[in-house]
Amino acid sequence: MRVQVLIIGAGPAGLLLGQCLLREGIDALILESRSREYVLGRIRAGVLESATVALLERLGVAGRLHAEGLAHEGFDIAFAGERLRIDLAALTGRSVTVYGQTEITKDLMDARDAAGGKTSYEVSDVAIEGFDTDHPRVTYTHKGNSQSIDCDFICGCDGFHGVSRASVPPAAIRLYERVYPFGWMGVLSDTPPVHDELIYVSHERGFALCSQRSRTRSRYYVQCPLSEQVDEWPDERFWAELRRRLPGEAAKTLATGPSIEKSIAPLRSFVAEPLRFGRLFLAGDAAHIVPPTGAKGLNLAASDVYYLAEALVGFYKEKSIVKMDQYSARALSRVWKAERFSWWMTKLLHRFPEEGEFGRRMQLAELEYIAGSRAAQTALAENYVGLPY
Ligand code: FAD
Ligand code: DHB
Repeated sequence: MRVQVLIIGAGPAGLLLGQCLLREGIDALILESRSREYVLGRIRAGVLESATVALLERLGVAGRLHAEGLAHEGFDIAFAGERLRIDLAALTGRSVTVYGQTEITKDLMDARDAAGGKTSYEVSDVAIEGFDTDHPRVTYTHKGNSQSIDCDFICGCDGFHGVSRASVPPAAIRLYERVYPFGWMGVLSDTPPVHDELIYVSHERGFALCSQRSRTRSRYYVQCPLSEQVDEWPDERFWAELRRRLPGEAAKTLATGPSIEKSIAPLRSFVAEPLRFGRLFLAGDAAHIVPPTGAKGLNLAASDVYYLAEALVGFYKEKSIVKMDQYSARALSRVWKAERFSWWMTKLLHRFPEEGEFGRRMQLAELEYIAGSRAAQTALAENYVGLPY
């Protein structure tokens, strides 16, 4: 069998790229190791930059997003008894949209099915060969049968633990990494959000975040030690800890209820360079990870796909390799800026016990400075709504 482009991974990066190529008539197959239901059940991102929304619009998959997504024109930062509103709309003229990654994934899967796009779920033993030649090949097992596909290009959209980046010889790739000494304990619950916008909380006991998926579904996170397991966090403990970290009014009005999902996510900054190895391209979490503070992960997957789709369309439609040659540098230039912002916001808002009292006072001084400076708020806001492509 043969396709023009073989995409590994049906997360947001793979499905978005698949949709870009479908609309241009470029023949692609997506291989996914998990089942469709598993991919749809993974609770992750919830905040979309306006450029991500614009990309989904151009791809014809923003109907439900516009009907059900919530436009947010600002968010709060709570610290030391203060509650600072960052007015995204006034500072940047733009806003963000709250719409779950699971919903985007579903919309993209439905659009792909409707257009006859090919996806194989529950594949195993995916291996890639010859990406440094003109004849790359991907082999895998599907429903007990060994398969082999020849293609022009392989797009590794298979997340942090995928096979694509791992197939590159170590000498050809440079990795940059920082692992943070804590995680995020996240709870999803069918309770009304405590506030109509997000609240990021810097508290002596650690960071907390009040997010949401709809007017009736909340998503909350608290910073927790990496040594702790989900089963050490019964719902009562989670709600009590969250309430202790929330500012007075929010603590009073917080509605609690049974969790419908609960998980601990480690925090990591990671970048692989470059993003192209002959006929293999990396995009999304396969190439880089940001700590979740600032909500950049899914949005970076979208900007990578934007540049990668331009590269592939340039090759097939305009017979030009210019954008293909530029892909890695264009995508990485935006990636590093989002890495910086996510690292900065993580450092600003979390408790780092090893930094001691001096470190804490530096955080509070920086928060006070932001509260008193429109310039500092503008810098924060323009990164939060997303830097231009
Ligand atoms: P993934 O979503 O990881 O998809 C990769 C896919 O490849 C998976 O489906 C996987 O099963 C498949 N795969 C792996 N290996 C193979 C293989 N060998 N063969 C075939 N398939 C394979 N980002 C934001 O922008 N905003 C947020 O608010 C936000 N919040 C987050 C909150 C949490 C708790 C977490 C954990 C993440 C959050 N993120 C957020 C990050 C965001 O979820 C990720 O950046 C995003 O999922 C990346 O998409 P991806 O397609 O690159 O990778
Ligand atoms: C969410 C996650 C984030 O990392 C963030 O900064 C904002 C919202 C969320 O999952 O809703």
